[in-house]
Amino acid sequence: MSCSSDGVYTHFYCCRGVSELRSIDEMDALEQFVTWFLNESPRFGLIPSQDAVTSIEGVTAVLWYRHEQFQVQQFIVPPNYVIPAHIHPNVDSFELYLGGQIQFSKNGKFEITSEESTRTGQFGEAAMRGKMIRVRPHEWHGGTFGAAGGVFMSLQHWLNGVKPHCVAADYSGATMGPDHFAKVKAGAPVLRTQADLTEADVLKT
Ligand SMILES: [Fe+2]
Repeated sequence: MSCSSDGVYTHFYCCRGVSELRSIDEMDALEQFVTWFLNESPRFGLIPSQDAVTSIEGVTAVLWYRHEQFQVQQFIVPPNYVIPAHIHPNVDSFELYLGGQIQFSKNGKFEITSEESTRTGQFGEAAMRGKMIRVRPHEWHGGTFGAAGGVFMSLQHWLNGVKPHCVAADYSGATMGPDHFAKVKAGAPVLRTQADLTEADVLKT
């Protein structure tokens, strides 16, 4: 099993799109962290005793890692949900598809098609499992989630001296609802609710 093999095993051992054909010296700080976390960190993560679980507007975030300027959060999103386009002013990140049905958007277009979001692999896993998308500060991104809901991981490098906290609180753009709006600590949130969000809100730039 190696990076060059086809099929599901590829994703067990690679962080696709990050480490292939590049030496550690050629990677930036976030790429180096992601390579370490996905390949060498403890299999059960390093979930802390503090802030282990955060819930905002029905979205659950599990904190897998937080140390110095780096953080990893796993997001569990309910079925038929919309995360409108937004930016994180102080965060550089990779978003990693874990499972379910997700159409990620970035800079006004979907990075995953509707068909891809529901495609299934040989073990029943989401075929897009393992896909990674780089989201730099000020890049608009969001997602629509299908009937299965969705699970993804956000691997983050916090910038400008801001210490890591929930990435949903470092946020500019339309919110997921009033609870989310009230919890934003930095950025320029716009109060919107889940009921009035549409696909157009996901593709905003
Ligand atoms: Fe985000």
